[in-house]
Amino acid sequence: MYKITLIPGDGIGPEVTNAARKVIEATGIKIDWDIVNAGLDVYKEKGVLVPDEVYESLEKNKIALKGPITTPIGKGFRSINVSLRKKYNLFSNVRPIKSIPGTSNPFKNVDLVIFRENTEGLYSGIENKPSEDSSEAIKIITKVASLRIAKAAFKYAVKKNKKRIAVVHKANILKLTDGLFLDCVREVAKDYPNIILQEVIVDNMCMQLVMNPHQFEVIVTTNLYGDILSDLCAGLVGGLGLVPGANIGDDLAIFEAVHGSAPDIAGKNMANPTAIILSAAMMLNHLGETQTADLIIQAAIKTIQEGKFITRDLGGLSSTDEMTESIIENIKNL
Ligand code: NAI
Ligand code: MG
Repeated sequence: MYKITLIPGDGIGPEVTNAARKVIEATGIKIDWDIVNAGLDVYKEKGVLVPDEVYESLEKNKIALKGPITTPIGKGFRSINVSLRKKYNLFSNVRPIKSIPGTSNPFKNVDLVIFRENTEGLYSGIENKPSEDSSEAIKIITKVASLRIAKAAFKYAVKKNKKRIAVVHKANILKLTDGLFLDCVREVAKDYPNIILQEVIVDNMCMQLVMNPHQFEVIVTTNLYGDILSDLCAGLVGGLGLVPGANIGDDLAIFEAVHGSAPDIAGKNMANPTAIILSAAMMLNHLGETQTADLIIQAAIKTIQEGKFITRDLGGLSSTDEMTESIIENIKNL
């Protein structure tokens, strides 16, 4: 029996995390969910964004499945997602981007993984207002954080038999910050002579990815570029409804989709549950439950390929619940 923290979150979060929970339960694996919530909805109810019980649960269980949390734009509180990643040193943000055969996307056979540095860069939250008419943000790059994300990416590449790693940077302009990040990745690369290091400047990377994503297998990059490239890559394989993710540290891991709280479709039973269901499969893999994880992945792929019970973002007419039920049916019959 695993004890896992479940954070439903805001917007579509409760709908999709509930779907993931049902799918996991259909596999027969025994999980004791510790359900605690953080975010705007909790704030409205309790006057606090992250109640202590959330921290206590995370620290006790060390593993969580989390829905998205809304962050106000241009004002208000700091992102809870960013704070949790920083507080628990969840330094690797791992986002696999994989085409699902049979879906109608511009590209077939895209198969790459983004390793985004998750604790610093421009997300350090240090912004100042030196005068009425100017603002500044401080980008922090440290050797320790850059080396550890580079090591995580290379270790993954070896484990998965990948031949190439692309480091994405802007060291031509940001010579000290991105320059340090690039140097750290080069240093780690020296220990892996069989893996080709592709050095790509971020603007060129955007073009390369939309022209020919097949030239990339693993991408390692800083926080902001990783955030942006994740959504771009999601677009290559059918959208944000399909792309899972993990925030992994040495001691604790939080699994969540790449997408946000999608206020435009929240509460309408319209959200695609696949991204969080695949995040749950990543979580099971992390726990060593590889067979169950595979079963969930195959069941989700089957639903998408059959095309009968898919949500609107994939061109279908089904609700979140109907798509989830179809995945559960496949789990029973696979
Ligand atoms: P978003 O990812 O929530 O939505 C972007 C677009 O993709 C919307 O049109 C939405 O309907 C669609 N979409 C997203 N997930 C979908 C799904 N599962 N099924 C079908 N369509 C889906 O990004 P947006 O609108 O920029 O951000 C909304 C809020 O989410 C913001 O407050 C933002 O800060 C927050 N956010 C939170 C994240 C997290 O908790 N990890 C990550 C990204 C954004
Ligand atoms: Mg993002």
